[in-house]
Amino acid sequence: MCGIVGYVGTDDAKEILLRGLEKLEYRGYDSAGIAIAGNDGVHVYKEKGRIATLRECVDQNDEGFIGIGHTRWATHGVPSQVNAHPHQSTNKRFTIVHNGVIENYEQLRREYLQDVELASDTDTEIIVQLIERFAREGMATEEAFRKALSLLKGSYATALLDNEDTETIYVGKNKSPLLVGLSDNVNVVASDAMAMLQVTNEYVELMDKEIVIVTKENVTIKTLAGEVVTRDSYIAELDASDIEKGTYPHYMLKEIDEQPFVIRNIISKYKEEDESIKLDEDIRQAMLDADRIYIIAAGTSYHAGLVGKQLIEKIANKPVETHIASEFLYNMPLISENPLFIFISQSGETADSRGVLVNVKEMGHNALTITNVPGSTLSREADFTLHTYAGPEIAVASTKAYTAQMAVLAILAVDTAKAAGIQMDFDPLQELAIVASAMETLTDQKEQMEVIAREYLSVTRNCFFIGRAIDYFVCLEGALKLKEISYIQAEGFAGGELKHGTIALIEEGTPVVAVATQEHVNLSIRGNLKEVVARGASPCMISMEGLQESDDQLVLPKVHDYLSPLVSVIPLQLISYYAALHRDCDVDKPRNLAKSVTVE
Ligand code: F6R
Repeated sequence: MCGIVGYVGTDDAKEILLRGLEKLEYRGYDSAGIAIAGNDGVHVYKEKGRIATLRECVDQNDEGFIGIGHTRWATHGVPSQVNAHPHQSTNKRFTIVHNGVIENYEQLRREYLQDVELASDTDTEIIVQLIERFAREGMATEEAFRKALSLLKGSYATALLDNEDTETIYVGKNKSPLLVGLSDNVNVVASDAMAMLQVTNEYVELMDKEIVIVTKENVTIKTLAGEVVTRDSYIAELDASDIEKGTYPHYMLKEIDEQPFVIRNIISKYKEEDESIKLDEDIRQAMLDADRIYIIAAGTSYHAGLVGKQLIEKIANKPVETHIASEFLYNMPLISENPLFIFISQSGETADSRGVLVNVKEMGHNALTITNVPGSTLSREADFTLHTYAGPEIAVASTKAYTAQMAVLAILAVDTAKAAGIQMDFDPLQELAIVASAMETLTDQKEQMEVIAREYLSVTRNCFFIGRAIDYFVCLEGALKLKEISYIQAEGFAGGELKHGTIALIEEGTPVVAVATQEHVNLSIRGNLKEVVARGASPCMISMEGLQESDDQLVLPKVHDYLSPLVSVIPLQLISYYAALHRDCDVDKPRNLAKSVTVE
């Protein structure tokens, strides 16, 4: 949610910043801006819209070797040129970019900035105006920066330039992600290592309430109280080619196609030489010790968590509750004596999940994060991490991360069961190999998905997905995919629940997609489909091999019942993709969304 970059070195800063922002555009794309410091001070360029629009307005002759940049997902203030970052203080001495939400900005404004006329509607401007005020009172820039940050309540990742010292970037962080990258005579700042891979793959993590003074020769980390902190750097294991689209028209299509490889990658990462499951002994023990598991997640990851509950309960015989992260603290269930909290998060940065993690750690409970980004906040702050090895997921709509999360949950469930001495004939590593092939069969049938999308979804206002048992959870995910990228009003329902109200929405031609992968609910979901057809719905039946009937629209290759969601979701992802294309929607960057939701 909002992306930040900074550069100080020996090359043309503007091009490096713009390229960095292009890599961060998945975090928000309402508006964007950069500030370049040259011999005659700091120049700011900012525009509403995408980085491509910003690029057009940047003066190509503006040369500077230091600068900061921002791509925005609006929180305070509508997306506009005025509200775009960077923001400057009234006397233009200070220029700032910020990711996060300042909760007490009204109060700070009343207390410190009564006489200041603000140029924007953003909470960010308060920070830069506070710094100017403290500098005018005689503080050096670093002190003014630390004092301003210490007054803030909320989350921030921020970078500041000072017109009077154009060799330094001041950086601060609390709750929002931020990294500093190191190289020879060059240092960088980025919300995400991917953005600055063009410069370096060596990074230093920052902890909450730390600041960093970054020049081209030095990086000095301090606490808000001014004490120097030393911390080793690490090498970000990212391959620059993983974040390119290659020949694909969209990242989403590339990421859908990558799913068989991701599943095979997971198999190899979680397999010992003797073919047994490879898992950290501490995680195994934490799962065994837990008397109840609480899965916490948001959006698509929450949908993976619903499947995870079924897997862990059915395979490992352990009670599990799955909760929406943003609701957990309000509707907190009674917590058992020895709980284990599992956080599922592609990005590892979701603020709603992190809010719960901070609370459960304060309560003294153990936490395991399942994430695609080891080193992310949720990974660092949990006791244990399981990596989903899906590779960078760039499209805003999550696809390969979802199937990877469910694969890892299945492995975890079986490992726990085995450690508890439960006998079973389900080998997740072998069964996942069958899943990978089934996924390939389906990704090879794109033309068929394209036809289904055209026939059912080209003009419709809404669409319903129905399923029972584990298929219901896939329907929730199918509906989320469709609505987020095609803007069709789509809802997933338990087949039996439809007649308790929602069936009122069915009219002539309303598309209803039914998923049936489980024998014990096959006939009942078909019955539910007949009920809506009797009321005019256009049915699209997706069944699993062995359960099909002659007029089903799509038959999925047979996989183990436990793993069917990894396969049944593939056509739903592809149908959503083509529906969005047919409707001329921006598939990879749907409106109003951002990939990494770092505000609560
Ligand atoms: C939907 C989607 C979101 C995320 C959600 C949680 O396609 O991607 O619903 O799943 O914002 O994000 P993570 O998994 O990064 O915590």
